[in-house]
Amino acid sequence: MSLILGIETSCDDTGVAIINHDGENFRVMCDYLSSQIKDHAKFGGVIPEFAARKHLENLLPLVKSALECCEISGENLDLICVTRGPGLMGSLIVGVQTARALSQIWHVPLIGVNHLEGHLFAPLINNSDLKPPFLSLIVSGGHTEIILVRNFGVYEFLGETRDDAAGEAYDKAAKILGLPYPGGPEIDKLAKSGDPEAFKFPVPLKNSGEIEFSFSGLKTALLWQVRKLDNLESHVNDLCASFQKSVIESLIAKVNLAVKITGVKDVAISGGVCANSSLRENFVRSRNFRTWLPEIKNCTDNAVMIALAGCNAWRRGVTPSINFNPDPSLHKF
Ligand code: KG4
Ligand code: ZN
Repeated sequence: MSLILGIETSCDDTGVAIINHDGENFRVMCDYLSSQIKDHAKFGGVIPEFAARKHLENLLPLVKSALECCEISGENLDLICVTRGPGLMGSLIVGVQTARALSQIWHVPLIGVNHLEGHLFAPLINNSDLKPPFLSLIVSGGHTEIILVRNFGVYEFLGETRDDAAGEAYDKAAKILGLPYPGGPEIDKLAKSGDPEAFKFPVPLKNSGEIEFSFSGLKTALLWQVRKLDNLESHVNDLCASFQKSVIESLIAKVNLAVKITGVKDVAISGGVCANSSLRENFVRSRNFRTWLPEIKNCTDNAVMIALAGCNAWRRGVTPSINFNPDPSLHKF
């Protein structure tokens, strides 16, 4: 049995979790998240400096509560895993420097985890049957990409977005529609009572023949449509439903292409946009591949996925070290 502490501070959520892993299976012993969404919503987006200060306030009290909840002390841990990047520099520094200090004080090894590899592990938290090879579609606020997971630690990037990430597109679309931040959950909710056929938006790069995404043109199409309308309020639900339909169609088209190219028919989805109710329904309904979804709470940033990804790296022989720096643009893993 190994006790693993996960720390996530890449953006605006402070996450702390402890998992107990026996080499085969694991149990989440505690999973804490202090979300800053309400703090940032009044500014219409994440303010990096403010996010870093909030992590500083929240992180150590959360670690203390997590240890108390599991009735252990820091020295009882076998491994600490912390998000190393990508993300906001100030936010990452708080997580990495705190983890380094705890690692030295408690004499517990430390592993720096790529946030995207963390997301990749989120569907494995509730799906113990999911085994490589599988395709991983990551749809978050900062990334939209498809990765072939040949094995854990053996990843092949198949394609990504040329411009905006899917979550970013949701957030920008919401702003155009006068809806609060973050836009994804808001558009998801309003789209439920809208008509997805009311407006015809393009499905970006649908027939490009490449595994790639683009969402900035769709956002502009939405903007032009909104400018043409006299009474935006009476069309908001239809605009949300029609915009969302295009995003999901684009994601499904490229996953179909990746399935065709690789012959791999298991598709695991993760990242904040994967909390979207229509996306989940449409993917599950798809006949060309089998969809593996995380629980809603594990779609957005959390520390369990970081603990699990770090633990997997440790077990496959990655050497722990405190000698790494936070890297806001860390990408390939
Ligand atoms: O993965 P995440 O928590 O943070 C990043 O690593 O980026 O993703 C946050 C993104 C935001 O853009 C948010 O609008 C989007 O996920 N999101 C959603 C939903 N819930 C969160 N997008 C669509 N539908 C949702 N229900
Ligand atoms: Zn994320």
